[in-house]
Amino acid sequence: MTGGCLAEIGHEVIVTDNDAAKIETLEAGRLPIYEPGLDTIIAKARNEGRLSFSAKPSDAVAAGDAIFICVGTPPLPNGDADLSAIDHVAKLIANEARSPKLVIEKSTVPAQTGQELKRALAVYGRKSGVTFRVASNPEFLREGTAIEDFLHPDRIVVGVEDEIAERQLHEIYRPVIERKFNCPMHSPGPCPDVPPPAWIVTTINSAELIKHASNSFLALKISYANMVADLAEKLGADIQEVVYAMGMDPRIGRSFLNAGLGFGGFCLPKDLQAFVHLAERTGVDFSLLKEVEKINRKRVGYVVEKIRRALWVVKGKQIAVLGLAFKANTDDIRFAPAIDLINQLVREGAKIRAYDPEAMEKARPLMPDVEMPESAYAAAKDSEALVIATEWKQFRELDWTRIRDTMTRPLIVDARNLLSGREMKALGLEYYSVGRPD
Ligand code: UDX
Repeated sequence: MTGGCLAEIGHEVIVTDNDAAKIETLEAGRLPIYEPGLDTIIAKARNEGRLSFSAKPSDAVAAGDAIFICVGTPPLPNGDADLSAIDHVAKLIANEARSPKLVIEKSTVPAQTGQELKRALAVYGRKSGVTFRVASNPEFLREGTAIEDFLHPDRIVVGVEDEIAERQLHEIYRPVIERKFNCPMHSPGPCPDVPPPAWIVTTINSAELIKHASNSFLALKISYANMVADLAEKLGADIQEVVYAMGMDPRIGRSFLNAGLGFGGFCLPKDLQAFVHLAERTGVDFSLLKEVEKINRKRVGYVVEKIRRALWVVKGKQIAVLGLAFKANTDDIRFAPAIDLINQLVREGAKIRAYDPEAMEKARPLMPDVEMPESAYAAAKDSEALVIATEWKQFRELDWTRIRDTMTRPLIVDARNLLSGREMKALGLEYYSVGRPD
């Protein structure tokens, strides 16, 4: 993603990975992930000779003046971020570098990792005499809108230790800051009329903290909205009306207040967990965030309970689930609430037929007991309940009369508040959602 976008704005980029199969896939012109617009960007940059892939890290290190570290930092069993890939890459860069390098952390890492990275580069590279500068440039891209987020960010944060590193990073991002690129997402039309990104220069420690604090705050907003939704349900209010009005206050903002199945994906849950651990290690009692996690863990169970109440008996029932990905516009199923929901229903003896526009290929090998037909209609046919588990826009546009007519019982549990309750009722469907009157 980062490599493709940096090439798109005019840089010469070599992308390397220790997963040779991934490099082979990319070299063959395919993508290991689904991300709208990325295939076009990569194909164009390769044709124009600005982007190449190499399974040999030495090629990439030798060629780059700036090296972005974009490796995974998955959670360890204790919840801490596993930084072994960063350490490994540091060793590699230090061993291969023959000229000064700016080494930029793009991976989400706990505060103070930059200092460790600097130390590692100095230790492993002590014989070469090469100068290394370290910087932090946290990633705020959302899956599904990653290219849009890269090209039109609201802020670019760089944590640096000197002006040289700042200038180098400014030069890298100049086309984005000055909007001097042919936008592949909007051309030939104009780009959205949004202000240019704020260029924020901080210390490395602050930049690292900004990333964790931002993601944890987003998680907090979602858990807050989910609790208000539970309350709204009990009090006969409508969460959609409540968050709409709350969001009109610019101090609050409307985004990340959508109640439903809770947050999933590879970033928010793990970053939150790592942040809680970081706080614990430093002796700061951040139990507020533990509550955020706790609320989120209960969301899927809450929806399962709703399904149970509506169906009376779950065992033996045919249930359709629309959505497998952790959110819309991605094929990513890592820590997806939809998968958790299906597993819970399967454990209770339900027979599941699931459909997702992009994620079925990834989900199939992990869920051999779940049928995955090629359309939402085929999933709904003969079902006694249909659950919307991912907020794909396409689901809104389905022919709900057709679905009603083929279901054994036209019962919809909309765990993402995607549909209009009034419209569903008018069509004669039994409709349940989250935080809204049934
Ligand atoms: C997140 C951050 O948004 C991004 O800035 C960071 O760079 C990476 O992590 P991403 O993992 O792509 O991005 O997903 P995001 O759009 O944040 O959604 C996370 C989860 O929260 C999804 O499961 C989504 O369905 C859920 N969500 C989001 C809600 O339940 N309600 C909302 O209002 C928003």
